Amino acid sequence: MSEIALRNVCKQFDSEHYGVKDFNLDIHDKEFVIFVGPSGCGKSTTLRIIAGLEEITDGELWIDGELSNYLEPKERGMSMVFQNYALYPNMTVYGNMAYALKIRKLPKDEIDRKVHEVAKILEIEQLLDRRPAALSGGQKQRVAIGSAIIRKPKAFLMDEPLSNLDAKLRAQMRVELVKLHKQLDTTIIYVTHDQTEAMTLGTKIVVMKDGLIQQVGAPQSIYDNPVNLFVAGFLGSPSMNFFRCTVKAEENNRTALLLDDAKTVKKVYLDGTRGKQIADRYNGRHVILGIRPEDIYELDEAKKLGIENESADVDEPVVNREMLGAEVILYFDEQGKTLAVRLSPENQTQVGEKVSLYFDMEKAHVFDPETEENIFVS
Ligand SMILES: Nc1ncnc2c1ncn2[C@@H]1O[C@H](COP(=O)(O)OP(=O)(O)O)[C@@H](O)[C@H]1O
Ligand SMILES: [Mg+2]
Repeated sequence: MSEIALRNVCKQFDSEHYGVKDFNLDIHDKEFVIFVGPSGCGKSTTLRIIAGLEEITDGELWIDGELSNYLEPKERGMSMVFQNYALYPNMTVYGNMAYALKIRKLPKDEIDRKVHEVAKILEIEQLLDRRPAALSGGQKQRVAIGSAIIRKPKAFLMDEPLSNLDAKLRAQMRVELVKLHKQLDTTIIYVTHDQTEAMTLGTKIVVMKDGLIQQVGAPQSIYDNPVNLFVAGFLGSPSMNFFRCTVKAEENNRTALLLDDAKTVKKVYLDGTRGKQIADRYNGRHVILGIRPEDIYELDEAKKLGIENESADVDEPVVNREMLGAEVILYFDEQGKTLAVRLSPENQTQVGEKVSLYFDMEKAHVFDPETEENIFVS
């Protein structure tokens, strides 16, 4: 059992430097919580606060109903796994995993049983006699995780544990961590700057920027309903496309968004209540339109979706084409930035060729240019 709550938690290093500000979060038993955000946003600081490695300057940390601001790290029942594996080089894998239990003076046969049990879960039984120097990066990381698991903590705290691994191994370890979370049935709090890790691992994502929480929620829910421009741009790869637009209410109850200085798409429409909402508040003014690469289509697909009357008018050629096997991503120049469009791999449009684009405006987001808030979510 573990319930962790942070209430108005602040960490101020000195008069200018904040780690986190007014951090409020409930972490429930067995959740897989991800702190995600760009470098320096306060992820590690928050994790270290939970671990007891960093003192809070203001606010409260509650663990299982107990105010724990000043609890010693070892009294908190947490296990931490770092980016650098922190294995003892002179001990075997077995020795590394058994170490924490030996210190607790557990009987030898019990230690032996536990080491084998955990080694089996992580599929490292065949490595038990090796020393860390004879292991690959991925194997070392498994041993580090094994050493953490064996203590049966209330929660695992992981700080970018996969960032030293190559892309393929990282993808494999992501799958294994999800499996491990199910098997262990414990809380995991996991720090990463990688939005893919956040999306694939978490049951709950905490998006952070400049020491402040931006949004908390399930991965899909945040992806579909980002509260502001930052969250919208941070989750998703390639990122959501943004365009400066002017709002123009038209006669037949339609709301047009005219893309400022646009080369590719000149004009799109928002219909129904969403259109009305924008027209009421912003007619004649600027907004920022956001649309994900997968919500932009070519004519054939647009026809199937019935959105072929939405917009087209492309004068600009494809500047880059990435064939990724299961999808193809076309890039255009737009408003001095790159517009990315994700299409099916059958699409044969090459660099230098022109193509008509259609936006699925049902999926579009509109942001206030001053507050940067998502008008349809906030
Ligand atoms: N010991 C420290 N003294 C001063 N500033 C610090 C200290 N540790 C971290 N910071 C600052 O706090 C902010 C958050 O750091 P950190 O939590 O490590 O970010 P993240 O893990 O998200 O990259 C950064 O601006 C960092 O420079
Ligand atoms: Mg960090």
